Amino acid sequence: MALGWRDTGLHYGKITRALHWAMALLFLWQFFGMGLRLLLGRTPLVSFFVGTHASIGTLLMTLALIRALWGLSNLRNRPAHEGGLVGTAARLGHLGLYTLMLIVPLLALLRAYGSQRGAAIFGVPVIPGAPEKINWLVNAGNAAHGLLAWCLLAMVVGHIGMVIIHRTIWKDNVLNRMAGRPLVAAE
Ligand code: HEM
Ligand code: HEM
Repeated sequence: MALGWRDTGLHYGKITRALHWAMALLFLWQFFGMGLRLLLGRTPLVSFFVGTHASIGTLLMTLALIRALWGLSNLRNRPAHEGGLVGTAARLGHLGLYTLMLIVPLLALLRAYGSQRGAAIFGVPVIPGAPEKINWLVNAGNAAHGLLAWCLLAMVVGHIGMVIIHRTIWKDNVLNRMAGRPLVAAE
């Protein structure tokens, strides 16, 4: 069975898969860079990653927005979560991932605005500085951006852990919904 552009009841289609895997790589970049910053402090390699952080983060927020709208428009036409506790946990887990994928970069961009520094995204000064410093935006970003970003990483680790459990213990085909050639048989 060929993989179509849109999702079906059995598999995610090409667009959902492209967004999922491209964003997974960009998140890896983001967390790898920030992990190095914590481990090594200021080095030229860390500065390189820090220099790409706001741009890649804003790209991720834009892609998350597109993905959420695409997901909503495909809601009735994508693999359903199972019933019971496991299905509810999966639904809540995915909802939590979306919430953090949007809120984490938004907090940082609002902080950039509120701090009057603004932000250049891929060299273009997209976010201006506020006319006056907005303390609560700066404080919210300082308190929550990094913390919630690490929570997002913890949820991603849980997400990958569940895919491994599905595959090795429950031996169902959940991974096949997002990767590989679609099987015709129901999962
Ligand atoms: C989804 C996208 C993003 C992720 C996953 C992410 C992740 C992170 C992480 C893990 C840290 C390290 C926190 C720590 O040191 O404990 C951090 C710090 C930082 N991020 Fe992001 N970030 C994202 C988007 C952005 C954007 C769009 C900006 C734009 C201005 C930004 C600006 C910063 C700054 C200035 C810091 C250092 C201060 C702080 O820790 O809050 N980030 N980010
Ligand atoms: C090695 C890394 C990853 C693997 C193996 C993986 C695997 C999967 C699989 C098999 C599904 C389908 C689950 C189902 O239908 O119930 C899925 C869905 C999903 N994954 Fe991942 N994933 C990975 C990384 C990530 C990352 C980094 C994020 C976000 C930060 C993410 C967010 C999601 C979301 C939100 C869904 C629900 C479908 C959607 O709206 O796109 N995944 N993933």
